[in-house]
This record gives sequence, C-alpha cells and structure tokens, in this order.
Amino acid sequence: MPGPIPGYSTAMEITRRCQIEVVPGGPVLVRGATEILDAQGDVHPTTRPVVALCVCELSQRKPWCDGTHKVAVATRAKIAR
Ligand code: FES
Repeated sequence: MPGPIPGYSTAMEITRRCQIEVVPGGPVLVRGATEILDAQGDVHPTTRPVVALCVCELSQRKPWCDGTHKVAVATRAKIAR
C-alpha cells in the first residue's frame, strides 16, 4: 500500500470529491479540486471551480493546459492527409 501523500494530514482531505473529465485530443478537466499534486511532488493550489491539466506535454504553463494541444492536433491532421 502506498504511503501518505505529502502535504495531506487527514483522511478527510484525501477523500474530497472531485470530478475528472478526459477531453479527447485535449486536456483533463478537474472540477472541485483545491490543489493539484504533480509528478514531481509539487503542489499547485487552485481556487478555480474547473482547471485544465496538460496531458500533451507541450504547454508552457504545466501542469495547466495553455491550448498548445490544438496546434499539435492540427499538425497531426495535416501530416495524415
Ligand atoms: S493538453 Fe492543452 S496544452 Fe497540453
């Protein structure tokens, strides 16, 4: 069983409800989160009701999506023609 998540002190915080939506060709939308823990262990606080997380690795504002995935999708579509 994995150990505790750094920065979290109670089970109540860990079980907070969030909704995650995967956008095809785009980001992952997270609703209801107060902070995002990235792969490096850094905590990114947020006060927005919905945040978009980059999954294409092209964003200049990781972990947040900055819309650059649209360029990647358009480029792939051109190459496929
Ligand atoms: S998913 Fe949008 S920039 Fe990466």
